[in-house]
Amino acid sequence: MTVRLVVLVSGSGSNLQALLDATADPSYGASVVAVGSDRPDIEGLTRAAKHDVPTFVAAVRDFAARDDWDAFLTASCERFAPDLIVSAGFMKLVGPRFLASFEGRYVNTHNALLPAFPGMHGPRDALTYGVKLAGATLHFVDSGVDTGAIIAQVAVPVLDDDTEDTLLERIKVAERRQLVDTVGRMAREGWTVNERKVRLGRG
Ligand code: GAR
Repeated sequence: MTVRLVVLVSGSGSNLQALLDATADPSYGASVVAVGSDRPDIEGLTRAAKHDVPTFVAAVRDFAARDDWDAFLTASCERFAPDLIVSAGFMKLVGPRFLASFEGRYVNTHNALLPAFPGMHGPRDALTYGVKLAGATLHFVDSGVDTGAIIAQVAVPVLDDDTEDTLLERIKVAERRQLVDTVGRMAREGWTVNERKVRLGRG
């Protein structure tokens, strides 16, 4: 069985690209059936189109109320019958309707070692704090900000002369590899969650 992925993006989509490349191999166990965004004209949507993957846009400003946006985003994903939804640089918090449909099947890749540095500026916050290890976390999404159960983490060193850009790029190399490895394992092997402890495999 091939696991159906919907990937949500807001920007350049290099994590999406890593998934598109990996899913070209049938033995990977998953395929990207749609890509959604909260804004038009982003590179992530272009990357999807180049792979003939259907796309949709759900822009918050097009809706009178945030709940209406949430319902539209949910319906847009449901249309593609996803087994797993991946937030790969999707810079919007989903609402209760989305979580009612997809909690437990909605994962986010974040560019910090959670629970440190949640939110929009993980690498900048890590650099400012002066940590010596930074990294990326793949986690389930719950109703908090980057608070869901952790599926995988990878660390990279922070170097003395790092800027936000150099640190972010080092993190993203490791982040993309982790995303591809872990989503592939989730697709092929399944997972269990006990309290907050996630284990890959049938258990
Ligand atoms: C990734 O590093 C991801 O962790 C981050 O956005 C980047 C997207 O890069 N997400 C967040 O900060 C969410 N809190 P990409 O568009 O090149 O995949």
